Amino acid sequence: MKERDKRRTGMALERNRIHCGDAFELLGKVENESVDLIVCDGPYGVTQNDWDKIPSIQEFNLDLIRRFAPKLREGGALYLFGKYNCIDFIDYRPYLNLKSRIVWYQPSRLAQGRFNYTNNYDIICYFVKGKKPHRYNLEDIRVSQLVELEHRLRCERVPSVQNGPFGKTKFNDKGKNPGDVWGDIKQLTYKSKELVRREALNTIQKPEKLIERIVLASSSPGDLVLDPFAGVGTCPVVCKRLKREFIGIEIDPGFILDAEERLRKLDVGQRAIEFDYVS
Ligand SMILES: C[S@@+](CC[C@H](N)C(=O)[O-])C[C@H]1O[C@@H](n2cnc3c(N)ncnc32)[C@H](O)[C@@H]1O
Repeated sequence: MKERDKRRTGMALERNRIHCGDAFELLGKVENESVDLIVCDGPYGVTQNDWDKIPSIQEFNLDLIRRFAPKLREGGALYLFGKYNCIDFIDYRPYLNLKSRIVWYQPSRLAQGRFNYTNNYDIICYFVKGKKPHRYNLEDIRVSQLVELEHRLRCERVPSVQNGPFGKTKFNDKGKNPGDVWGDIKQLTYKSKELVRREALNTIQKPEKLIERIVLASSSPGDLVLDPFAGVGTCPVVCKRLKREFIGIEIDPGFILDAEERLRKLDVGQRAIEFDYVS
């Protein structure tokens, strides 16, 4: 059946729109094997928002992984956001392969309690359907080398490197792989120009730069990105700017209005963003 006919019969969700409703219901209207990338920034199970009151975040995430897997094409990727323990003790292996647990490091987070260490990171679980990702656009996500080539070469001339198992490491002056600890992207603050409104802070709105790295790495122009918990639309905005197709789902109509406003601003050529970088 053609895409247009599916839309008419209500079988498939229209692309490049954020649909208002419950992700668990609307996922059924996403065609199997059609999605290149899923960006899942849903409940974490830690805030007082009604939608975040989840008895077991691990079981919740396992259920999501089970539902997402058929939607992805072979080699498609899922990035699942959460706290350090969000996939502990669940068996996701029948559905997807975990490639990385990315640590999104946020050193400026306020102290929490006196009897444990303040949690300074979120994790972003990077899964792939099948053995190999069908996209991993490393050239688009390189970050600055931390050391100069001269220094690097000096380090490589020591015996432990020359005789060690890895031999020479490659220095690429276009930059390096960002690795799995992302400390270069700050979370938003009340002062961030990008913030749509105060309530969107922390529990809701993610920095565009963070989502941009994911979208650049794991999709190419024209690919389909699914954002089942779209909030105020960061992922759809990034997709539109980078010429990816998207399907967004969000249960709160107020957030959808914010998201649509951000998408409209892109139409009139206003960059709705000023990135917050750690220099
Ligand atoms: C962490 S926020 C997403 C923020 C988003 N990444 C952004 O930058 O704007 C999670 C969102 O999921 C939405 N949500 C929670 N449960 C949902 C459900 N069952 N279906 C659809 N949306 C849901 C919430 O309303 C909230 O906006």
